[in-house]
Amino acid sequence: MKKKVLVTGGAGFIGSNFCNINKEKYDIVVLDNLFLGTPSNLHPDIKFIKGDACKNEDLAKCGDDFDIVLHFAGTSSAPMFMGDGFADGYVNSIESFVRTLEFARKTGAKKFLYASTSSIYGNNPLPLVEDQQVVPPNHYAVTKFTYEHCTRMYNHVYPEMDTIGFRFMSVYGPNEEAKGRYANMITQFLWDLARDLPPVIYGTGEQFRDFTNVKDIVAGITLALEKENLGNKVYNIGRGESTSFNDIFKAINQVLGKNIQPIYIENPVKEGYVKGQHADIHKIQSELGFKPTVELLDGIRDLADNLDRSRIKETSSDSLR
Ligand SMILES: NC(=O)c1ccc[n+]([C@@H]2O[C@H](COP(=O)([O-])OP(=O)(O)OC[C@H]3O[C@@H](n4cnc5c(N)ncnc54)[C@H](O)[C@@H]3O)[C@@H](O)[C@H]2O)c1
Repeated sequence: MKKKVLVTGGAGFIGSNFCNINKEKYDIVVLDNLFLGTPSNLHPDIKFIKGDACKNEDLAKCGDDFDIVLHFAGTSSAPMFMGDGFADGYVNSIESFVRTLEFARKTGAKKFLYASTSSIYGNNPLPLVEDQQVVPPNHYAVTKFTYEHCTRMYNHVYPEMDTIGFRFMSVYGPNEEAKGRYANMITQFLWDLARDLPPVIYGTGEQFRDFTNVKDIVAGITLALEKENLGNKVYNIGRGESTSFNDIFKAINQVLGKNIQPIYIENPVKEGYVKGQHADIHKIQSELGFKPTVELLDGIRDLADNLDRSRIKETSSDSLR
């Protein structure tokens, strides 16, 4: 029998890719309040319920017999916690987390997998390792670090349900259109260049990220989903390789056969801007057998080949990175 999997936030970028790739393998139900996602990200055969993971009555609409709960719902990047609305982001993120965790346990789930983030590391020494001391540098990262503390305690009290967190690196791939200005820089640069617009780069373009294709992220999540008796764990998922914005930009020009120059501007983010990101992925490799397979150029080519210009609204000049 197929495992029954609830995916909160499943109409968003990473969630929808997980569901579309695994639609034959698992019996999937998606719960999403469409704060940022869209049902059009999902294959039509996937069961979609519009609702809020903060609300017990919406969670109850999904069913009561899940083997696995995957929790991606929440306010999904640091800039969303800026300005007057930041308190809403906090409440939404932490409340939906705890409610979904409780729902998962009561439904008899054997596993609760959730999205933490590499933002927790801030500008820590590289490579970023799971057991480094971290001081979350922004409100978003604080919510994710809270999840990690919460599940550690939860699994101690209720060891019958594994709790697995993922510190995703910089994820790019299909289905980012609804994220607009919050989409990955690879995706936003591609949207610009495809429309002959010069992308805007903050600073010198030497900043680098561990850009990881969403297919590899889904592969890592699936390995953790399948392996039994993991207890409480936190894993980095990335490629374990880094690329500068300048090199990304050259690669996209190459894939599109263009030669557009970027516009460099002074970095407006004065505090806490991440200069470099590079994951140590030994833990997930040795414990789960994870191996990233999508080369950067192939991932970019795939995105370019499947680009639907009618869905693009943003330019990188509006982006929040
Ligand atoms: N994309 C990345 O590079 C990256 C990196 C690190 C961590 N993450 C984390 O991974 C998760 C997924 O990220 P994403 O890029 O797919 O973001 P996303 O915004 O595309 O997906 C989140 C989804 O959650 C939904 N949602 C928000 N609040 C909800 C609520 N209360 N109830 C139900 N649904 C709700 C949104 O509508 C959206 O569809 C997020 O938790 C994010 O913080 C993403």
